[in-house]
Amino acid sequence: MELEGILQFFENKTILVTGTTGFLAKVFVEKILRVQPNVKRFSLLVRASNNQAATQRFREEVIKKDIFRILRNNLGANLESFIFERVTPISGDISYENFGIKDSILIEEMWKDIDIVLNSAATTNFDERAKLYGWPNTYVYTKALGEMLLEQFHQNLPLAIVRPTMVTSTYKEPFSGWIEGARTIDGVITAFGKGRLKSFLGHPNSILDVIPADMVVNSIIMAMVTHANKSSQIIFHVGSSLRNPMKLPSLSDLISLYFTQNPWIDRNGKSIKVSKLIVFSNIATFQAYMAIRYKLPLKVLWLANLMLCQYYREIRINLNRKVRVVMRMVDLYKPYAFFTALMTLTQKI
Ligand SMILES: NC(=O)c1ccc[n+]([C@@H]2O[C@H](COP(=O)([O-])OP(=O)(O)OC[C@H]3O[C@@H](n4cnc5c(N)ncnc54)[C@H](OP(=O)(O)O)[C@@H]3O)[C@@H](O)[C@H]2O)c1
Repeated sequence: MELEGILQFFENKTILVTGTTGFLAKVFVEKILRVQPNVKRFSLLVRASNNQAATQRFREEVIKKDIFRILRNNLGANLESFIFERVTPISGDISYENFGIKDSILIEEMWKDIDIVLNSAATTNFDERAKLYGWPNTYVYTKALGEMLLEQFHQNLPLAIVRPTMVTSTYKEPFSGWIEGARTIDGVITAFGKGRLKSFLGHPNSILDVIPADMVVNSIIMAMVTHANKSSQIIFHVGSSLRNPMKLPSLSDLISLYFTQNPWIDRNGKSIKVSKLIVFSNIATFQAYMAIRYKLPLKVLWLANLMLCQYYREIRINLNRKVRVVMRMVDLYKPYAFFTALMTLTQKI
């Protein structure tokens, strides 16, 4: 499909976006504003006490972010007026009927005017305790519930579900390397660069699929364009597929190479030296490593504390906490780090 046709699709359209203060929605909103200024209106749902507070959050947590750098450079002092001519922040919460919006006139207008909805609102926390009904974590369990509800209730509305793999910083647009927070694999990479992570756990054939945020947004845009006017549901899996998979050993080699050539600079201006990431290919060797490297010293510290009136108390508490965090992370990510299945199905759209 030609770029012109894609851009035309958004011309004069009203788009509702939820999760506006989040990572992916920002990349989406910025892109549409930049490439299709003739979009009619963005209704942006933001959790806040009222619309004024929603506008304030939008200003602080969205417009001021670096992702708007290109638009800011192009528009200078006119950036805010350009944006607010096209954008209406609305206070609302997706867990309530009609987003908890009490203004009936606004609700009626939204029902009437909105052409496209991007639901990007979610609780993206992995680290919740419940392991429900055989699902590895609450994140995937609630995703499955959400998708089932959508399938049941979308009636004849075109419904496209985009399931990206781990999303990382932007590849090209609006510029490369923009990310917000360290979320999935980014946390692992920065911890390695800072010298805090020495080892990782996973099957050597496990594909650590990551995708840049701008590519995900392009996929969302294509899903909207190609699936508009179809009354069915479609699911798009967005990842590297089999063409260019990144296996765990490649990640380990690449980050070692990167941080050797571009060391992380600590607070005192010193560069941090990294050595090659140790990759454990099974739980047993990892547990043996943890026992020798950390659990044994913990036992020694416990004994020393008994004899020396808790002299090493703080050190032991800290180390114990770190070991617990690591074991918890291993438990959470185990289903992914040892997942070796490949998906060969591709669909042409
Ligand atoms: N990032 C990834 O690696 C990745 C990978 C695959 C799929 N996804 C999916 O992509 C979507 C967007 O992810 P993201 O990374 O952009 O998430 P994110 O940065 O955590 O943003 C989540 C957004 O949802 C909003 N939100 C949460 N609960 C809400 C509620 N009850 N009502 C209204 N808004 C609510 C949050 O608002 P507040 O600011 O008020 O908290 C925030 O704006 C999610 O469905 C996520 O599961 C993400």
